[in-house]
Amino acid sequence: MRVKIKINDKDQFIETDPGEMLLETLRKLDYKGVKHACSTASCGACSVQLDGKPVLSCTTFTAAVDGHEVKTIEGFSDENSLSDVQKALIDEGGSQCGFCIPGLVVTTEALLSENPDPTQQEVIDYLKGNLCRCTGYESQTRAILKAAKERRSK
Ligand code: FES
Ligand code: FES
Repeated sequence: MRVKIKINDKDQFIETDPGEMLLETLRKLDYKGVKHACSTASCGACSVQLDGKPVLSCTTFTAAVDGHEVKTIEGFSDENSLSDVQKALIDEGGSQCGFCIPGLVVTTEALLSENPDPTQQEVIDYLKGNLCRCTGYESQTRAILKAAKERRSK
């Protein structure tokens, strides 16, 4: 079957099977920033935005996304520069092995568009599906609050 999905602001016509998951489709299209980890909706590494809301691409059928808009981590910065959220994560020590970071950033961007001035607890609650094995989360929470503050001051 053929579907049309807007990925990072570009319309794409994609041949897919009815049982194919969005994670597999995106990685086949070379959006390798979308990470393949648990495949069971348990870790958040495969997070992308679907019409502006975070979803787990490992448990989202590609066919169900026909006619919708997907944004991956590649859509939030370009090859030559990091986003403000990515910079803050590095500055605050919130990125170690880095494997969780694409999903974390995609989810953070959804949070900040819904709520540009989140409290610490709101950040923790919103990001609770994005697991990190390295950092203990404090540095990531600090980085998100810092990026949010800097964004509000612009
Ligand atoms: S790979 Fe999708 S939630 Fe873990
Ligand atoms: S930085 Fe390693 S899993 Fe999060």
